[in-house]
Amino acid sequence: MGSVTMTEKDFTSKPYKTLPEHGIITWEAPSNIALVKYWGKKTNQIPENPSLSFTLSRCKTITTLSYSIKEDNSGFAFEVFLDGEKKDSFKPKIETFFKRIEPYLPFLKAYTFKIETTNTFPHSSGIASSASGMSALALCLLSIEKMIHPEMTADFFTKKASFLARLGSGSACRSVEGSLIVWGKTKTIKDSTDLFGTKYPYKVHDNFNNYQDTILLVDKGEKQVSSTLGHKLMHNHPFAKTRFKQAHENLEKLKGILENGDLNQFIEVMESEALTLHAMMMTGFPYFILMKPNTLEIINKIWKYRQDTGLPVGFTLDAGANVHVLYPEEHTKPVLKFIKNELVAYCQNEQYICDQIGLGANQL
Ligand code: PMV
Repeated sequence: MGSVTMTEKDFTSKPYKTLPEHGIITWEAPSNIALVKYWGKKTNQIPENPSLSFTLSRCKTITTLSYSIKEDNSGFAFEVFLDGEKKDSFKPKIETFFKRIEPYLPFLKAYTFKIETTNTFPHSSGIASSASGMSALALCLLSIEKMIHPEMTADFFTKKASFLARLGSGSACRSVEGSLIVWGKTKTIKDSTDLFGTKYPYKVHDNFNNYQDTILLVDKGEKQVSSTLGHKLMHNHPFAKTRFKQAHENLEKLKGILENGDLNQFIEVMESEALTLHAMMMTGFPYFILMKPNTLEIINKIWKYRQDTGLPVGFTLDAGANVHVLYPEEHTKPVLKFIKNELVAYCQNEQYICDQIGLGANQL
């Protein structure tokens, strides 16, 4: 089924007669880092603009879902554990997620669930676990439907998993597959859709093979501003229209760059996207700043290093203070030396994570 023609209706479940009594499913799903940023959404987690991300490899969430049939169908019944400890503070977000996906997974109220989750990256490292977490949970839940309807194709499973993950956290729809994922309809990328993430369908230059992402943990504190509020602030934002248009243009630019492998141009688009994301936060109302002084120190050091050595090292940022340092695999040695010698001092407890582009989620 071509994604262009798909609608929400394609994801409603076919009727079923019996349900599996109980069982246990485990999925691991990676985090992702956007090159073109998603910032601003319409109702039902529909993005205001297209985004493009690298799926990561080592930063991931591993979720085990145990399910058993319950007596009545009156409400959602679940418990959540993070690293073996009960985590009631996760419940409201999951309850909202369940409500949103129930039309597409009508058996949710028939079960009592136990959700056990763990992240490979330190908790409260400032690395958002919502993308990998929602993706892993969506995959576990959809695996139940796959048991009910074993004829479901692998292609449909992937699309629906991404579709469901999107309803949990927009960027989570880009964490099902690898390694370069597009989400949001844009005319230059065929089959791109607002409903789910799709694999970037064009030629990608070898320069991007095993592209490295070293994540510098600048501030591990809780986010001051949730992405939910951040997206909302784009509604009456004075520059919103221009920004949304720019995202389409940057994706179009990247299409050429990904094909010809021009790393200087790649860095230009990526860094501009990161700074634009933060500029949107600074120029909205209420305005806020998520970068820390050390974020700026690191950015300036990266710029100086690039100028001094000519090596193609660039950065991007999420909605936080941490810095993702991106560079081609062949330059790993000198860049890691630079990071250790000059950047680690700006990280909280000298913490950083070496990651690279990855292939997507796996059932364990
Ligand atoms: O998935 P959300 O709603 O948490 O939004 C994430 C937005 C950014 O991480 C800032 C950008 C992106 O495209 O991932």
